[in-house]
Amino acid sequence: MISLRRKLLFKLLAPLLPLLLIGVAAAFYMANHYASLAYDRSLFRAALALADQVEVVAGDVTVDLPQAAFDMLEYDKDDWIYYKVSGSHGEFVTGYPELPIPPIVKPVAGQHYYYTAQLDGKEISVAVFYLSLKGTSANGVAVIQVAETTSKRQSMVNEIMIGMVLPQLLMVVIAAMMVWRGVGRGLAPLDSLREEITSRSDRDLAPLNVADSPKEVQPMVEAMNDLMSRLEHTLKQQQRFVADASHQLRTPLAGLKTQAEIALREQQDPEQVRHALQHILTSSDNLSHLIAQLLTLARIDPKATVSLQMDPIDLEQLTREITASWVPNALAKRIDLGFEAQEENYLIAGDAILLRELIINLIDNAIRYTPMDGLVTISLQAVDSEVELCVEDNGPGIPPEKRERVFERFYRILGTGEDGCGLGLAIVREIAARHGATMQIKDSRHGTGVRMCIRFPARIEFA
Ligand SMILES: Nc1ncnc2c1ncn2[C@@H]1O[C@H](COP(=O)(O)OP(=O)(O)O)[C@@H](O)[C@H]1O
Ligand SMILES: [Mg+2]
Repeated sequence: MISLRRKLLFKLLAPLLPLLLIGVAAAFYMANHYASLAYDRSLFRAALALADQVEVVAGDVTVDLPQAAFDMLEYDKDDWIYYKVSGSHGEFVTGYPELPIPPIVKPVAGQHYYYTAQLDGKEISVAVFYLSLKGTSANGVAVIQVAETTSKRQSMVNEIMIGMVLPQLLMVVIAAMMVWRGVGRGLAPLDSLREEITSRSDRDLAPLNVADSPKEVQPMVEAMNDLMSRLEHTLKQQQRFVADASHQLRTPLAGLKTQAEIALREQQDPEQVRHALQHILTSSDNLSHLIAQLLTLARIDPKATVSLQMDPIDLEQLTREITASWVPNALAKRIDLGFEAQEENYLIAGDAILLRELIINLIDNAIRYTPMDGLVTISLQAVDSEVELCVEDNGPGIPPEKRERVFERFYRILGTGEDGCGLGLAIVREIAARHGATMQIKDSRHGTGVRMCIRFPARIEFA
């Protein structure tokens, strides 16, 4: 699980920490530079003051240092100060003899230099001044060194570092803290959203309040609302379906009960009993048909089945076979039941049981709603790479404004005088959809009646 907090914090610190390090390095360099600059200059001034006191007497370098100047040179509250004056031949004149010889290779008379060295295990900074002795009885240069230990410089560096780095460090820490808190506060509306959702009853699918949530969260809330409204729609559909189905089941059951009671009560007339039993038989038939249809619907529900068993199906063979088995029904109404197909490849990928269900429902409707002596023709034709299956009749037809509605579950056109439950075409459409096929109701070419066409995609080619 990713934490927004951690992610943001990381994104913030990733560039800030290197910047901080660069800042520290720069501060360290500057502090050292300026501390050396300041204290080296004062060492040089002391060397100059010392040079002022140098005299040459009969070719020898001497220094005449008054006591006050001497004290000033030696005393400092933080550091040890050393000095040394050497003559033109390097001979020691005065000061601290152990002060190391300067590492300057080619000194120029009248110039001064700075360097660091070690003395008694301590680090010292040294200023050296080469005093020209030209025009005196001695020749060459006198070497004047003034040195001090580095604790003043160190503490100055430390102070500068603290002054520069501490605020930067503080800034980073405060920024991190603000991100931490800010993310918490920014996500607080999500908490209230969660509360709103958890406190809801599972029946309440009313949309969540979008206006109260922050702009960034709104798309999510809207998507959720959208899902909930779709869920509500599906739920309502299912509720309606269950209500319709139970109503449809209850009516024939009530009929069965009544007829059974009549038959039981009848004691004289066996013809009445026969009549009641006949009713019972018809009701039972209708009921079992309804139950079979409901089961088919449940089976093809895309939510219930993972995937269809898609096999190569010879649609011509299947249709011909089913048509043949419906001939007795057609004969009973003296209907001319025909089958037409050109010599073609009608191999499609499909589920044989479902396809059978589809064809049966179409033929059943055609024969059922076409009056005596009618005409029902089943035809197959290849259109490009597709296969079109049509069932055409010369019955009453379906008015154009009802051609969409007849696909709804339990929808029936009243006044046909036929039994049914209104699930047939719903089943047909669902099976067609599961095969990627499209369904169309057209006018029949017989003047009256309908032509129900299903177009299956992509025939399977023979290898
Ligand atoms: N071939 C047809 N000719 C005329 N009307 C039809 C035809 N097929 C279906 N219908 C109408 O469509 C309605 C829905 O059909 P269907 O879903 O099969 O349910 P059922 O046949 O159980 O009533 C039928 O009630 C009928 O009015
Ligand atoms: Mg039907």
